[in-house]
Amino acid sequence: MAFREALEAMGSTEFHFDDEHGGQVLDIAPIVADAGKGAHLYCCGPTPMLKAFEAATASWPRAQVHVEYFTPKQEAEKKGGFIVELARSGQEFVIPEGMSILQVLLDAGIDVDYSCELGICGACEQRVLSGIPEHRDAILTEEEQASNTKVMICCAGCKSERLVLDL
Ligand code: FES
Repeated sequence: MAFREALEAMGSTEFHFDDEHGGQVLDIAPIVADAGKGAHLYCCGPTPMLKAFEAATASWPRAQVHVEYFTPKQEAEKKGGFIVELARSGQEFVIPEGMSILQVLLDAGIDVDYSCELGICGACEQRVLSGIPEHRDAILTEEEQASNTKVMICCAGCKSERLVLDL
């Protein structure tokens, strides 16, 4: 484990390893239960730990719960068959099967930010002006996804025939 000695030197540090002889999983529920009502809770790590964290925080306001996945929560949606319109330039692109929106825009020379291409970093977030994204990211809350005002273009598909982005 990287930085273990440095962390131990800091004092009241606990280590939990579930994949070793005698290892034990961190019990997240009591930590969450002890947190103050206005607390913001942050968790990053492997998927089983994040699932336990999300279960423990299910009744919390989503705006106070923050997670960072190391791996995608879901596969990217690459069914294609819809049009992406860039509202500022008026350009339109047909998204074919097997390609993400991001890949199509990059191939066309459109300058957009991105990093992970897995739906877990948030770098490719774009504002949606119209259309209904098929969300596949681990960044947006359920409420944000339901509002259809933002989309991670590295992994999202589209439920409507056209998706208009503020680009
Ligand atoms: S590039 Fe990381 S979420 Fe899209």
